[in-house]
Amino acid sequence: MSFQVACSTSDLAPAQALQVELTHASGEPALVAIVRDSDGSWHALGDTCTHADYSLAEGDVEDGAIECWKHGAPFELTTGRALALPATKPVPVYTIQIDGTDVLVDVDSTL
Ligand code: FES
Repeated sequence: MSFQVACSTSDLAPAQALQVELTHASGEPALVAIVRDSDGSWHALGDTCTHADYSLAEGDVEDGAIECWKHGAPFELTTGRALALPATKPVPVYTIQIDGTDVLVDVDSTL
């Protein structure tokens, strides 16, 4: 496991999301949506919608899902599963930890 600092806990209030660029162990970039659910819990998902390559971090967060702003497909925060059309494929969900004020993500470890 290789955790990277993605952001600070002060960067997101509940029901907000933020796009960050991290790096896979291979050196490839990884666009990640750091998401704070409306209950305050933290999640890290692949940021690219599986329908048409738009950033999920721009979408609305509510009750365990983030909704793509472009065409409205919701993705479940704990599994990455697409809950409704037009997306049909899941996004990856990465391991996330909070250490003090640091939000840590391992983009080489999916849940
Ligand atoms: S681009 Fe996300 S639902 Fe179409």
